[in-house]
Amino acid sequence: MDKIETIDIDIWSVDNPTTYNIIIGSHVIKNVSEYINFEHYSRVGILTDEKVAPLWLDNLVKSIPIKVSEIVIGQGEEVKNIDNVRHVWEELLTLGFDRKSLLLNLGGGVIGDLGGFAASTFMRGLPYAHIPTTLLSQVDSSIGGKVGVNFGEVKNLIGSFSQPEIVVIDVNTLNTLPNRELMAGFAEVIKHGLIKDEDYLDDVVKKKQGKLSEKDFVQIVKRSCDIKAKVVEEDERENGVRKMLNFGHSIGHALEALSHVSQNESVNSKPGDNADYLLHGEAVALGMIVASEISKEVGLLKEKDVDKIREILSKFHLPTELEFELSPNVIIEKVMFDKKNVSGKINWTLLKGIGNAVFDVSVEKEIVQKALKSIM
Ligand SMILES: NC(=O)c1ccc[n+]([C@@H]2O[C@H](COP(=O)([O-])OP(=O)(O)OC[C@H]3O[C@@H](n4cnc5c(N)ncnc54)[C@H](O)[C@@H]3O)[C@@H](O)[C@H]2O)c1
Ligand SMILES: [Zn+2]
Repeated sequence: MDKIETIDIDIWSVDNPTTYNIIIGSHVIKNVSEYINFEHYSRVGILTDEKVAPLWLDNLVKSIPIKVSEIVIGQGEEVKNIDNVRHVWEELLTLGFDRKSLLLNLGGGVIGDLGGFAASTFMRGLPYAHIPTTLLSQVDSSIGGKVGVNFGEVKNLIGSFSQPEIVVIDVNTLNTLPNRELMAGFAEVIKHGLIKDEDYLDDVVKKKQGKLSEKDFVQIVKRSCDIKAKVVEEDERENGVRKMLNFGHSIGHALEALSHVSQNESVNSKPGDNADYLLHGEAVALGMIVASEISKEVGLLKEKDVDKIREILSKFHLPTELEFELSPNVIIEKVMFDKKNVSGKINWTLLKGIGNAVFDVSVEKEIVQKALKSIM
């Protein structure tokens, strides 16, 4: 049997210090009851989406020795809203869940963020576990306890910090993931290398030249989780170093949200035309290019490094140019609008060389405009 990796994560916070495990392996869903003592809970429920349900729900249900309830919602970024949180709350209430019950979030980042938020608010907090099934959720969103939903066209506006009981990552689930989604997950992997570890980045690029095995995926997920876990352990609430993880995300979130606003005059997409939407990872790839260009403009990053970053993103079939029309000012306004709602001003996370992120850098608007033109 292949090696199972375990990472312990220790979150220190005044109100709720906690320690939990991240289990990473292939076919670990089959053995989930080795990691979770289901008898310990009054009830167990699984939240998943309509695409993941026919692929992985039965596998998980079969590995749980007690009766489980299933809650299945729609899929995609569009369902990450407060209406679906309400739906989950209603289901939990009808099913008789209490604070000794457990909710398992089986799916990508949307299910994890939404399910985690619904659980963290139901009866002031129900224990929950993540069983992430996309590369993006395995390397990033299931780690660190940020949960929430989009609101008023702002990404993740409503949310909380709430850590899971455990994260069980089965890289075997990636076998059914569409390639475009897999590549979007690599955007966060590349981000981890760019902000913290150039050797890791180079290793992943090298591995990508061949066919990635399940063992490779276990190692990639582990190294990313290690990076993210260390940052979150140091700064759960994003007062300092956790801001590094936002590299590419100010612009990324704006582009992601704008690509979803189908009625927006400046977007060429048609209502309901999913193909035109940028996936989270794709938007972050573009955001990382802009942030790298800004880093170059303010003298922190060499031109050859920006070229290297573009080349790596292309190798992973991630976008390096915006495919729909938006002016730099529309994007900047959106970033400002988002920040006004969240923190009041734009503090950029930039690269001071590859593998080394710096945060809280303020940048002139003209520099941002120029950097944005580089993806148009
Ligand atoms: N909480 C955090 O710290 C954090 C960090 C990064 C991203 N996020 C959030 O994560 C979300 C993006 O997550 P995502 O990329 O996983 O998107 P997603 O959850 O929408 O999943 C992508 C698509 O893949 C499908 N899918 C999932 N697993 C599958 C499988 N094994 N086989 C086949 N299809 C499968 C889903 O149904 C969906 O259609 C965004 O909302 C983003 O804001 C949160
Ligand atoms: Zn992200």
